Amino acid sequence: MVDDAAVSPFASIERPAGGAASSEHDLHDLAARFAAVRARTLQLCAPLSVEDHLLQPMADASPAKWHLAHTTWFFEAFVLERLGAASFSPEVGFLFNSYYEAAGPRVERARRGMLSRPSLERVHQYRAAVDQQVLAALAAGAVSPATLARLELGLHHEQQHQELILTDLKCALGTQPTSPAYRADLRRSKAGAAAPLGFRGFEGGIVELGAGAEGFAFDNERPRHRALLQPFLLATRPICNADVLAFIREGGYRDPQHWLSDGWQAVQSLRWEAPMYWHHRDGGVAIYDLTGLRAIDPGQTACHLSYYEADAIARWSGARLPTEQEWEWAASMVDREQGNFIEDDLLHPAAAPGDGAALAQLFGDVWEWTASSYGSYPGFRPLAGALGEYNGKFMSGQQVLRGGSCFTPRGHVRASYRNFFPPAARWQMSGVRLARDA
Ligand SMILES: [Fe+2]
Repeated sequence: MVDDAAVSPFASIERPAGGAASSEHDLHDLAARFAAVRARTLQLCAPLSVEDHLLQPMADASPAKWHLAHTTWFFEAFVLERLGAASFSPEVGFLFNSYYEAAGPRVERARRGMLSRPSLERVHQYRAAVDQQVLAALAAGAVSPATLARLELGLHHEQQHQELILTDLKCALGTQPTSPAYRADLRRSKAGAAAPLGFRGFEGGIVELGAGAEGFAFDNERPRHRALLQPFLLATRPICNADVLAFIREGGYRDPQHWLSDGWQAVQSLRWEAPMYWHHRDGGVAIYDLTGLRAIDPGQTACHLSYYEADAIARWSGARLPTEQEWEWAASMVDREQGNFIEDDLLHPAAAPGDGAALAQLFGDVWEWTASSYGSYPGFRPLAGALGEYNGKFMSGQQVLRGGSCFTPRGHVRASYRNFFPPAARWQMSGVRLARDA
């Protein structure tokens, strides 16, 4: 390992090249945001024991310690390397590169939970060293616009991993025999009825969708482009637990007519009878959330459903899932800051508020499966180099989800934001909003 205190981190500080140099104010703002995002990640992991940090309940869910190190490696590999900073350790790339082929070989995903070394303490030292180098670079003010863009990407990347830390940890704790809580002081949302399920109509026509050129967006949200929408109806809230209970009571998980062929295969082979984290208890249903096991609240928005379940429930309801274009068009008229996000500290979906007339919970609470397979927009260009692997290479076999969840940092998500997961995935905080043809 390199002793970072003994090596000048910027042996060859790059000079701004092309474009206007960022103002001191901008760099100060970026440094403050960097420090806040990095601190939030540590805050999320603070309640965990050393043992908790290493749990990997399945190949798809990574240990918290790995997330702490991987998000740090991202800044080292894609920001500090451009600044000529010395590597903290030659092995961090192999241990904490996620999937970037261009960045070299890496530990097999399913074995991330085997990495007892480096220790958690050493990972924290790694984080502190990289933080120090990034903040020193910003204070020095000699960072090119291209590198600043990578730093911005790194912040949004880390926010994505904040959501994954909670998602993966829920899987690690919620599949243990004692269903332990993540935090003893976590408050539970009040029980209450969901808003009535209404449908709001939208006219069809040619609309503009996707992120514009200004501001931060991931490459898969661009370019902005035109799309043709047929007239449609969108449900004013996601489905709630009572809706799922009705689906179960009417034999929804036992009737192949509701299911896509692959979905029915999953029901049988994986023995699905209810959403993930639902348990039979004392003649009723209990649900695991990050406070532990609790009796089901019928009014709460339903979560941990796969795309297959979302599609089956929609068919059973006489409806369908919205396309991502329909979803985005509706969401472009809604305040993205309104909703139940990580800062609200429920870490579970609430009951949808309102009278059923206005759109509720489009942002926050649960990611909403769409009928759209994840693909590229017309004119899509992935980022150059290794970062081109960030989103573009996953455009096969996955469905788009929209809107963020109660595990998402407020302000991270936007109307054009595209999340994506394979159709059988249900450890994500995913739910269902219905749509219909008008
Ligand atoms: Fe990542």
